[in-house]
Amino acid sequence: MKLIVVKDYKELSEKAFEVIKEVVTTEKMPALGLATGSSPVGLYKLMIEDHKLNNTDYSNVKTYNLDEYTGLKKEHSQSYYSFMHDNLFYGLNIPEENIHIPLGDTDDLVKACNDYDAILKDVVVDVQVLGIGANGHIGFNEPGTSFDSLTHIVELKEKTRLDNKRFFNSLDEVPTHAITMGIATIMNAKKVLLVANGLNKAKAVKAMIEGEITVDCPASALQKHDDCIVIIDEEAASLLDKKY
Ligand code: F6R
Repeated sequence: MKLIVVKDYKELSEKAFEVIKEVVTTEKMPALGLATGSSPVGLYKLMIEDHKLNNTDYSNVKTYNLDEYTGLKKEHSQSYYSFMHDNLFYGLNIPEENIHIPLGDTDDLVKACNDYDAILKDVVVDVQVLGIGANGHIGFNEPGTSFDSLTHIVELKEKTRLDNKRFFNSLDEVPTHAITMGIATIMNAKKVLLVANGLNKAKAVKAMIEGEITVDCPASALQKHDDCIVIIDEEAASLLDKKY
């Protein structure tokens, strides 16, 4: 793991943007693995700004999102489909057919998992963007998930639902289940870029970097990845033993 500790969220987003820009401008057909949530929003803003200012081209880019809530219509304001379009895709020139997000709004979730794996099996993701849950989850791979997992349905932990309540009117409205890319697929990406900020993430960040590799902290699997860059702010780094 390569760890970069920065002063604040602005610097975190700028450093993460450098990594993505390098991939987008050097690969012929860049494949980006993308995350939702608050952590990558600053990065996504910079991608849009750069596209507008410098005409950075995304017409050959393909994207693969980590996860989606089940039981929410695509058009729901809090679906990850809406999140990604509102926070990134509408600001770039990625053709809609190049965008891949697991299907959560279906009666046949087993098929949705298989279909997503069928797409992913032929793809080498150049860089996988990740956030980390306060309980150490990556994607929606909650503690206890096998490191061999492919796309699957998860029951979201109470802690995850409480953390995500801020996007909904009440806890009752937060979906109980989600479809997520598995840890094995995440680990297949050529490069992983994980961003985390704030005190709320400090415990999970410590377990990911300094803890043992265990399913109790799904993000600890990343210790075994050959090219994993972790960019965190000082608050998220505050519980680390070593000074980096
Ligand atoms: C989102 C995802 C999750 C989030 C994590 C952190 O697609 O896969 O693992 O990255 O829950 O969320 P934020 O960034 O909102 O703190």
